[in-house]
Amino acid sequence: MAVPDDGASLLEVLRDRLGIRSVKDGCSPQGQCGCCTVLVDGSPRVSCVTPARRVRGREVTTPDGLDATRADRWAEAFCATGASQCGFCTPGIMVRLDSLSQKVGADGADRTQLDRALAAHLCRCTGWHTIHEAWDRFHDGTEPESNRDLAGATERATVESGGPQVVSPDMALGRGGFADDSAPPDALVAVLNPRGDWVVADSLIEARRLSGKVQGRRTTDDPAPPLALPDGSWTVCLRTSWVEPAYLETDASWCAPGGQPTTPLANGGAFGAKTVSEVEEVARRLADEHGRPVRVLLSREDTVRRGAKRPPIAAGLHQDGSGVLRVARTTGITEVIAAAAPDLLVEEVDVVGPPTSAAIRAAGWAEVAMLQAALAGEPLPVTAPNGAEARAVVSAAGIEVVVRCGRPLDEVVLRSYCIGAAHMAYSWVVSESLTVGPDGVPLDLTVRSFGIVGPAETPVVRVVIEPSDSHPVAGSDAVFAAVAAATWLHVGTPTDLPAGSPA
Ligand code: FES
Repeated sequence: MAVPDDGASLLEVLRDRLGIRSVKDGCSPQGQCGCCTVLVDGSPRVSCVTPARRVRGREVTTPDGLDATRADRWAEAFCATGASQCGFCTPGIMVRLDSLSQKVGADGADRTQLDRALAAHLCRCTGWHTIHEAWDRFHDGTEPESNRDLAGATERATVESGGPQVVSPDMALGRGGFADDSAPPDALVAVLNPRGDWVVADSLIEARRLSGKVQGRRTTDDPAPPLALPDGSWTVCLRTSWVEPAYLETDASWCAPGGQPTTPLANGGAFGAKTVSEVEEVARRLADEHGRPVRVLLSREDTVRRGAKRPPIAAGLHQDGSGVLRVARTTGITEVIAAAAPDLLVEEVDVVGPPTSAAIRAAGWAEVAMLQAALAGEPLPVTAPNGAEARAVVSAAGIEVVVRCGRPLDEVVLRSYCIGAAHMAYSWVVSESLTVGPDGVPLDLTVRSFGIVGPAETPVVRVVIEPSDSHPVAGSDAVFAAVAAATWLHVGTPTDLPAGSPA
């Protein structure tokens, strides 16, 4: 197939010239998330940092181009183990694992090799373990599932995700209906320039060039929490910074003139973010202005600069549970914290920084759970505002989780969500940070800037799902809070997060 030799990346050629949507764009041109992985002459390559001219005359295999029987077996394995939730990262991971599998054979890859392969990827939903299990299932000859209730699985995924999320092998093949995949091929494309204005062009390649996009970097500046502790002599203190949700599918939407914009939450996976994403209204406005469908896409850097973060706090508590919790001014956050800790005085503070949201996973009440566990000196049961209950213990042996959240509906999906939430909580407490400059703009702009704990460093997570006949509610947020508290206890309750990995 011939395409112009104009300096485009392989990803740009595949998605935007050839319309191949199974190759995903999570951070281009950073080359850090692995979503755009393809095979070049059988070897995995991150296509957003591979110049198209470098593959002239070579064989490129996309997720769609994998051997159909093997792709179906991979999809079945990912679905059966809960190794794919939003499904945005999965096609790239599948391509790399298929290559590794072909190279080493059924029994040839040990966990170290597998983790080394996965280290080229980010999955924000699953917490890695179920991907290990998908690898094992692909190789151990397990018969495909025949009697799983995928409608129940989808219902549980939707409850946990807080938005639509379908569970099926198709989703693992990257067919989650993502907005930027479903746009008409002739849609105009709108991206932001560095001044924050929308630039519209006939293609993404052209729009990004016209916009003068400059690749963001990470900073070496100090990611210190921004709020000062309240004055006082406290038994327990905690300071946190903004936290980047780091969902893999950046905000996207498209709209036809006079139509309804597509949701940036096509198959979930944003952990409470994107609920206030600007892209839908921009797509609607630009489509009406131009009289043509318009596709609106944020880059990774745009998403970090403009997307909602977990609000920072600084809290001091006395042994009796009274004290002061300062939090970056955020709509609705005081009510959430006051409901979880009526004895705390909540002070909202104006602080220059990125947008924050009380909708981010367990924002405010997870921090309260951490403070209460620290006062008790031991992990406490956590009850979420929705009534879900979770307990967690973190030790050198790993993370133990017990959850009760109504009818499980599908234990595979619920367990996967709990492992993902445990990973996210552990990663936040020990490792994640977002450095913000004095002007309030994030300085850490790459998807690897935030310190997300990788597969080799993720502790083993064991999940017990307690039976219940009550109405299903999301359990993973309660797990997130319980694991955050247990992890903080495990590392000695240092005042400032991230705490650093346990010795
Ligand atoms: Fe991996 Fe959502 S399933 S990022």
